[in-house]
Amino acid sequence: MRTVRTVADLRRTLDAWRAEGDAIALAPTMGALHGGHLALVSLARGRADRVVASLFVNPRQFGPSEDFARYPRDEARDAALFRDAGADLLYAPDAEAMYPDGFATTVSLAGPALGLEADRRPGFFEGVATAVVKLLTRTGADEAVFGEKDYQQLVVVRRLVSDLDLKTRIVACPTVREADGLALSSRNAYLDAAERVRAPALHATLRATAAALRDGAPAGEALRGGRNVLEDAFDRLDYLELRDAATLAPMDGLDRTGRLLAAVRLGATRLIDNVAVDLEG
Ligand code: PAJ
Repeated sequence: MRTVRTVADLRRTLDAWRAEGDAIALAPTMGALHGGHLALVSLARGRADRVVASLFVNPRQFGPSEDFARYPRDEARDAALFRDAGADLLYAPDAEAMYPDGFATTVSLAGPALGLEADRRPGFFEGVATAVVKLLTRTGADEAVFGEKDYQQLVVVRRLVSDLDLKTRIVACPTVREADGLALSSRNAYLDAAERVRAPALHATLRATAAALRDGAPAGEALRGGRNVLEDAFDRLDYLELRDAATLAPMDGLDRTGRLLAAVRLGATRLIDNVAVDLEG
């Protein structure tokens, strides 16, 4: 697995593969790899002839009080993990190569990019979308894999690709979890031992709330119950919401496939998670 940093090197490699008729899948990441990221690479590996992983800690999606400076960075470790998971190429541009002097264009969003994460992280999805558009157009990948862990991001990216006529197919990768249900996340490294013990209550509550909805509980009641549990278990509840799985439009009841999404604060760490709520079991 080679590492390239410039658009010219990236295009040269991908053009040669395309000339051989190879289909290319992209797995975009910010590094600090864990099993969730590697699941994206495995999924890509099974769907395309060539797999490109990207590693870019995107400054535009971090707020001023967020963890950009201390976000874990270890490219040598990440490169070895990508290689072992079956990536053919690592694209690791530096910030200057993504946003050269004078860079003045951002993608502006509405629809699924409003509410939920956007309420707590203004500008977050604009930053994500700007980087993602550049990664998709620079690679021209046939497919790109995004994790359901960041469900709102997945829906925003699908909308973006459709609205801007990008040719890349977006593929969803199911959330990879620890044995106790905690979704793998680079930010779990920030949890201390006591917080780590409390953290699985997020997924457990999402599952219990989804089960209540499936069993016919009125949505308002099920959500109120779930919110109470999360408020007790965590240091702050940002949201627990039932949304349309495809559009993230609010849902008053379970009349179509939904998604339960939640975000909480645990000590200094923000945890997000989500589960499907299907009409039939
Ligand atoms: P990052 O947080 O590094 O995540 C990269 C990809 O891995 C995302 O698609 C995310 O949903 C997926 N992922 C993270 N944890 C996962 C888990 N436990 N199971 C399955 N997939 C998981 O998301 C980003 O980076 C950035 O916003 C990016 C899309 C790279 C744009 O900068």
